[in-house]
Amino acid sequence: MSEKKQFRAIKGTRDILPPESALWNWFERQSRDTFEAYGFRDIRTPIFEDTYLFARSVGTDTDIVSKEMYTFATSSAGATSDSGDQMSLRPEGTASVCRAYIEHGMHTLPGNVKLYYSGPMFRRERPQKGRYRQFYQMGAEVLGPSDAPGIDAEVIEMLVVLFRRAGLENITLYVNSIGCKECRPKYVEILRAELRKVKDQLGADSQRRIDTNPLRVLDSKLPEEQPIIETLPRISDHLCEDCRTHFTKLRDELALRHIDYQENWRLVRGLDYYTRTTFEVTASGLGSQNAVCGGGRYDGLVELLGGPPTKGIGFAIGTDRAILSIQESGKLPHLPGVAVFIAWMGQKAYPTAVAMAQKLRECGLIVEIPAEEMKFKKSIGLADKLGAKYALIIGEDEIATSTYALKRLADANQQKLAEPELLEYLESERRGL
Ligand code: HAM
Repeated sequence: MSEKKQFRAIKGTRDILPPESALWNWFERQSRDTFEAYGFRDIRTPIFEDTYLFARSVGTDTDIVSKEMYTFATSSAGATSDSGDQMSLRPEGTASVCRAYIEHGMHTLPGNVKLYYSGPMFRRERPQKGRYRQFYQMGAEVLGPSDAPGIDAEVIEMLVVLFRRAGLENITLYVNSIGCKECRPKYVEILRAELRKVKDQLGADSQRRIDTNPLRVLDSKLPEEQPIIETLPRISDHLCEDCRTHFTKLRDELALRHIDYQENWRLVRGLDYYTRTTFEVTASGLGSQNAVCGGGRYDGLVELLGGPPTKGIGFAIGTDRAILSIQESGKLPHLPGVAVFIAWMGQKAYPTAVAMAQKLRECGLIVEIPAEEMKFKKSIGLADKLGAKYALIIGEDEIATSTYALKRLADANQQKLAEPELLEYLESERRGL
């Protein structure tokens, strides 16, 4: 006898079910509308790419590439001579956008190329609240010839506008500059030298990072390392002239836009491609995984991937966390539900009921109509359970008089209306349904 197996979603992945999925759609729509108002356009890239694309962009020593990627061998049957021999599920979107920018010669397009994307990303992290192995991002990237700080500020403004529009509560924007390939390596050496002096007081991860990636020590959350980190040399004191000017202008541009932010010299971010501006947004109600968005400038990444010299800046919002934060705030947007349940009785009423459902749906209303005849009481009971605002009662009497009974379920108020008045009334109510 075969045993029944209960399948469950794989650890770190989850189903997003209604009604929550409506909130996701709403948030994604707010994001798209906001991004498009700033001239960004949608780009859709594959979910898997050559592993080397991520290794090159994000960095081989980063946590993401060294231990969190889902990597597969390319099967010999599907392999072509110019593809790598390994592919990975994308852990983030920036590398793919840069690859596509190069592949399609987008540098020849006029002005800055402004792209946004939305979709699942994959990282083999330890799952917890707000941290999943399949999670979702809404990201935006600006690629082009200019690194004017006004671009950075506009990207940040767009983010702040979106979060305000989506009702995200208590957000804090952190901004930093991590220098360029001229000044950062010098700072990293100074930092490394200082870290070596205090090596014995650091945890195992930080000790390892002294050699591999000393900047990441600044990211440490270990309580016992905090007093030590606070005494370390700060990048702001080691920026070159150009980077210092860029950061000063960024601050002016943010002030011009009335954007509140905090400078955070420890904001180095966990991906290698960043230069100069980095930023992160945290939101309330999320516990330890409170970063809802991370981003920054990545001048040089396109070149590193074999493209022409190009400047770049962008961000990615963790959609799962943005949704969690909205839910925790308790201030959910009004999302439309079932407006009209058509309670029809008698086979003679059925054709009229079907026609009426079509007309109301064309008016933009959400309409439910049972496919099989139901007793009146059962019908109204189901309408109630589905959260319908109105029940439209169509029986043989209604057909005979061409008037329909519209019952508001909240207070049982009932009115009899002919078809034109009925359509007019429901259309006028549509906004609140
Ligand atoms: P990131 O900081 O690695 O940056 O990710 C951005 C956001 O994705 C995070 O702030 C967080 O909200 C969300 N996120 C990351 N990992 C997880 C996870 N395991 N579960 C749930 N949410 C997660 C990037 O990915 C860069 N590509 C951003 C960027 C775009 N920089 C420039 N352009």
